[in-house]
Amino acid sequence: MQKFVIQGGRRLEGDITVQGAKNSALPILAAALLCGGESNITNVPKLSDVYAACRILSSLGCTCRMQGHTVTVRADAIQRHVIPEPLMQEMRSSIIFLGALLGRTGSCTLGYPGGCELGPRPIDLHLQALGRMGVRIREESGILTCTAPKGLHGARIHLQFPSVGATENILLAAVLAKGDTVITNAAREPEIADLAGFLIRCGAKIDGAGSGTIKIRGTDHLTGCEYAVMPDRIVTATWFACAACAGGTLRLLHTDAPSLIGILDVFEDMGCRCSRSEDAICFSAGRPIRPLHYMKTMPYPGFPTDAQAICMAALCRASGTSVIEETIFENRFRHVEALNRMGADIRVAGRAAVIRGVPMLHGANVSATDLRGGAAMLAAALGAEGETTLTEISHIDRGYDSPEQTLRSVGAEIVRI
Ligand code: UD1
Repeated sequence: MQKFVIQGGRRLEGDITVQGAKNSALPILAAALLCGGESNITNVPKLSDVYAACRILSSLGCTCRMQGHTVTVRADAIQRHVIPEPLMQEMRSSIIFLGALLGRTGSCTLGYPGGCELGPRPIDLHLQALGRMGVRIREESGILTCTAPKGLHGARIHLQFPSVGATENILLAAVLAKGDTVITNAAREPEIADLAGFLIRCGAKIDGAGSGTIKIRGTDHLTGCEYAVMPDRIVTATWFACAACAGGTLRLLHTDAPSLIGILDVFEDMGCRCSRSEDAICFSAGRPIRPLHYMKTMPYPGFPTDAQAICMAALCRASGTSVIEETIFENRFRHVEALNRMGADIRVAGRAAVIRGVPMLHGANVSATDLRGGAAMLAAALGAEGETTLTEISHIDRGYDSPEQTLRSVGAEIVRI
C-alpha cells in the first residue's frame, strides 16, 4: 500500500502543464466503442480509472493500447455485450459503457457501478431515458439486462435533474439510434461538449452540447478519428488550492479558462489573483485567505461538487468563517475529519459545513477517503506545519496523473513511499 509523506510550509512557484480531463477521457473511451476503424485519443491522463476503462474495452473484444498519453482503440471486433462485474465495481464511470454498448450492439448486461463513496448514486434517470428509446430493462439479483429488440429509436427526453452521467448515456445511445433525440434540462458541463466534439468528428450529428437542450440525429455509422481530450478543470482547481494553502505563484499551462467559470470567481473572492491568457492562468495565493460567507455546489456553470473539498482545504486558514452547502451528493464531507485532525475547525450540519478559519494547520497521519477528499488533504498538508503522512492514496491515483512529480517540480516536498 502506497502513501505520500509531505513536509509542509514550502511555497509553490513555477509552471504546471495541466493533464487531460478524466471526466472527458472516460466517456470518450466509451464512445470509441461506437466507431468503425481506429480512434486515436490523445492527451489522456495516466490514471487507474483510465486503465479500468481500457480493461472494459478489452473485455468486450476491442483492442485498446495506451502509449504515452495516447490511447488507440479498435472496436470492429466486439464479441460480447456483458461487462464483467469486477470491472463494473472498479469505478462509477463504468455506467457510461451502458449507452455506448446499447448503441453499438442493442444489448448490454451489467451490474450497478462501484465508486459509491459519496452516498447513494442512483441510475434511475439513465434507465428511464433509455427506456424511452426502446430499451427493455430487467433486473435480477443486482444484474441489469438491457435489450432493444427492435433497435434503439430517438425520443424526447426531459431530465428531472441535469445529470452528467445520464446526459452522456443518452448521447452515446442516440448517435446510432433511428431518428431524432432531444434532451432538455441536459447537463451543461464542458466535458459533455468534449464528448460531443469527439462524436461529431466521428460523423455524429449533434447540436447544442454544452447547453441545456441537445439535439441528436441518429446516423448509420461512425468512423474513429484523432481527438485531444480537453484540459482537466478540476485538476487545475486542485493546483489553485495547493498554492492557496502553501502560498506562492503558479502558472497553469494548457488549461481552459472558460471552463473554469464559477471556480475562478470563488478563488478570487478568497483574495487570490487569477490572470487569464489564452492558454494559461497565472495564480497567486492571497494572504490572508478571505472567508466565503456562503457558497454552494451546483451543476455547471455553478461551483462544482468536485472542487468542494479542495476549496474547503484552502478555507481552513481563512481570516473568518465560511459556509459551504453541498447540494449534489449527501455524503461528500468525509474529508472533514482528516482536516480537523490537522487542526482545522470545521463542523458539519446536514448538507452544510461551517469552516472557522484558524491561523495554522499542523501535519498529521491521515487517510484519503475518496478522490477529491484525498486531494484536499494533500493541499492542506502542503500548507501545514510539519510532516503529514497520507495513506489510501489509490483514491488520488484515480484522478491525478503523478501528482507528487508535478508538486515537486514547483517546490513541494513530497515523496511516494
Ligand atoms: C457527478 C457530478 C459531476 C462530477 C461527478 C464525479 C454534478 C451535476 N455532477 O456526476 O460534475 O464530475 O459526479 O464526482 O455535479 N441522480 C439521480 N438519478 C440518476 C442520476 C443522478 O438521482 O439517475 C442524482 C445523484 O444522486 C446526484 C445528482 O443527481 O444527487 C448528480 O448526479 P450526476 O450528475 O448524474 O452524477 P455523476 O454523473 O456521477
